[in-house]
Amino acid sequence: MKTTVSTLHKMAAEGRKITMMTCYDASFATLLDTAGVDILLVGDSLGMVIQGGDSTLPVTQQEMEYHVRCVARGTKNALVLGDMTFGAYQQSPQQAFENASRLIQAGAHMVKLEGGAYMAETVRFLVERGVPVCAHIGLTPQFVNAFGGYKVQGRSEDDARRIVEDARTLADAGASMVLMECVPAPLAREITEVVRVPTIGIGAGPDVSGQVLVLYDALGVYPGKKARFVKNFMAEAGSIQGAVEAYVNAVRDGSFPAAEHCF
Ligand code: KIV
Ligand code: NA
Repeated sequence: MKTTVSTLHKMAAEGRKITMMTCYDASFATLLDTAGVDILLVGDSLGMVIQGGDSTLPVTQQEMEYHVRCVARGTKNALVLGDMTFGAYQQSPQQAFENASRLIQAGAHMVKLEGGAYMAETVRFLVERGVPVCAHIGLTPQFVNAFGGYKVQGRSEDDARRIVEDARTLADAGASMVLMECVPAPLAREITEVVRVPTIGIGAGPDVSGQVLVLYDALGVYPGKKARFVKNFMAEAGSIQGAVEAYVNAVRDGSFPAAEHCF
């Protein structure tokens, strides 16, 4: 059965965990789709894991369209979520719609953009024109230069209050989902209680509607230091299919993320 915006809301309402993984090509799309991953995120993390860059900033919207097209061809049931790239949506709601509509035409069912409450006008503009939006808050990697590195967000009480307000405002503006990256687990739980839409976490603890991992992190093929929130599912599974199924099962039964993966 096809995963849609309404399926996701129903899952969250019934307390069934949503599974999301990044995906950049058709072969992995078919594998992930078959393993029951609900959402395939064509993330701008491809700038790092595919292109070998040290941030997501150089990725272009044209490159995203290409990878979305590849993933869409390999997908039967999963919802395809496409990232909006740095510089492709911040200027105006009109600019965002122009680029988002091309991502939808390439096969995405929803787009994801980074930023806080100030993005609400853009979110509303897209949603009113038929483009479902996932709002990405907390550690937003396109802000790496502004943050001065990849750091956990929302640790101080002021920051935490601002992030809760961001989530509330973006959900009120019509965002279909809120994705939180690298925030303390209690903050993610609070946001999940406050907003009426499904929440997805990465490094955000267990008390969210679903989880996302970068595929190459979950398979242990990304070089370099493993982030705290990552689990290498390949180590125990022995096959790629097995590792993806282990991830799906671990998210569904709540065994991932464990305390060791949380902030
Ligand atoms: O680009 C990406 O992979 C992402 C996830 C880390 C959420 O945005
Ligand atoms: Na991203």
